[in-house]
Amino acid sequence: MLNKLKNNKVPKHIAIIMDGNGRWAKKQGMARIFGHRNALTAVREAVIGASEIGTEAITLYAFSTENWSRPKIEVDALMNLLTKSLKKEVPDFQKNGVKVNAIGRLNDLPKRAQQTLKEVIDVTKNNTKIILTFSLSYGSREEITSCIKKIAEKVKNSTLSINDIDEEIVQQNLYTYNLPDVDLMIRTSGEQRLSNYLLWQMAYAELYFTDILWPDFRREDLYKAVETYQNRERRFGKTSEQLDGEHEQIT
Ligand code: FPP
Repeated sequence: MLNKLKNNKVPKHIAIIMDGNGRWAKKQGMARIFGHRNALTAVREAVIGASEIGTEAITLYAFSTENWSRPKIEVDALMNLLTKSLKKEVPDFQKNGVKVNAIGRLNDLPKRAQQTLKEVIDVTKNNTKIILTFSLSYGSREEITSCIKKIAEKVKNSTLSINDIDEEIVQQNLYTYNLPDVDLMIRTSGEQRLSNYLLWQMAYAELYFTDILWPDFRREDLYKAVETYQNRERRFGKTSEQLDGEHEQIT
């Protein structure tokens, strides 16, 4: 599968909604957290797979602002899992050139998780192969609201004039200021929704939905999604003929 992919059309930024852990566990008569624990292989496979094809950034929806309303036992277990596995993965992050990043209301996380996250971000900061962003206590509407507040503050203290507010300024004030726009969004488990994820950043993303439950996701599944992406025509509002013209001018 890997050799079927085109080198010149690699998505720069892949975002994944890792869905279906609970259903995966339930199918085996186990508690939901069993699904989350078995999701880590899929996380590793997706990151290594994306890095192998030359993707610059992969962003994972690990915990949404809405996930806080899940039973406390599940929330606590997810936070523990995150803290423990982040620490454990550091040698592999270093070996594979993975720079860890995080977006969301990070101050909402338990202190221990915040501390671990800070340490892992710091120790991996010079890695250059791929940026791995965990979305934690993340919601796109919250991100946009916080972006508006940051911009309003700059206008209020006269470091920014209203006439200078453009899309670039908005982009620079989002949590993802250091990431390219999302090219490909993958959601597992058969649900076909965006669930308040990276709404600004996905304005032109190709969307790919698969029935695979997240714990079963492997790099071959990522390549399949990328192959589908490569066979789609991204027009960014233009016509096919215009794109053909641009292509002829380039080649
Ligand atoms: C969605 O499945 C998954 C989550 C809310 C949590 C995602 C977390 C992980 C993949 C593990 C986290 C660890 C790291 C290091 C990233 P669901 O629980 O909504 O499943 P369901 O829709 O079948 O109930």
